[in-house]
Amino acid sequence: MSDRLQFGVDAPGVVRNLVLLGGGLLTLALASVALGRHDPIGLELEPGISCLASGALMLLSSRFGKRIVARRMIDSLRLRGDEQVLDVGCGRGLLLLEAARRLREGRATGVDLWSRVDQSGNAAEVTAANAARAGLAARVHIDTADMRALPYADASFDVAVSSLAIHNLPDAAARAQAIAEIVRVLKPGGRAALLDFRCTGDYLRALRSGGMLAPRRSWPILLMFPPVRIVRARKP
Ligand SMILES: C[S@@+](CC[C@H](N)C(=O)[O-])C[C@H]1O[C@@H](n2cnc3c(N)ncnc32)[C@H](O)[C@@H]1O
Repeated sequence: MSDRLQFGVDAPGVVRNLVLLGGGLLTLALASVALGRHDPIGLELEPGISCLASGALMLLSSRFGKRIVARRMIDSLRLRGDEQVLDVGCGRGLLLLEAARRLREGRATGVDLWSRVDQSGNAAEVTAANAARAGLAARVHIDTADMRALPYADASFDVAVSSLAIHNLPDAAARAQAIAEIVRVLKPGGRAALLDFRCTGDYLRALRSGGMLAPRRSWPILLMFPPVRIVRARKP
């Protein structure tokens, strides 16, 4: 996917807080050494480095790692090119555009509530502009809706994907509701691939109790931080 496309930073507030906290702790460590007050290694230096490193890894993940993982995830679906693909919580369109790029006749639909807490600069217009810049506007459709009440008829999609989105729901019941919606809008034989860094056990259970076949979870994928897993299943 071209570098001209901008997909933002995930959890920008968390990244900012980690960098500020890390910077503050390192400054305190330096001040402690300069004033000879105490040994700062365990108290300030180690936690400071750990916070800064976590913030930096999250930034690198948004900018580089996630793009590689998204491309591989969509490649692994081996799309024929005529599918209807749904990206749940599409944000600025990373998975959405990866899928649209592989469609000749089908369409990729992205649905989101556009939370800027979850992704920087998140907006339907930004996603639409990314699609236009990639030359994919004709293959992309964008809707605004809550993933717990998808505005689509039963059996509308061949494939449903999601990345770092479903864990944002407040509790396991809400996540199960979103997964039940995904199952509902999939066609018979349709496939789900859900990427996340937590709650993937909930997704497995919800897919299983929704009657999906062969629910399975990948090993942790270390190209992203925090590491992610992909949960997959197929509708009977
Ligand atoms: C961390 S961003 C990930 C965006 C995109 N999938 C990606 O990987 O770049 C999480 C996304 O989930 C969306 N989201 C959170 N709660 C939602 C809900 N209840 N319904 C629809 N989208 C939601 C946010 O607006 C945000 O775009």
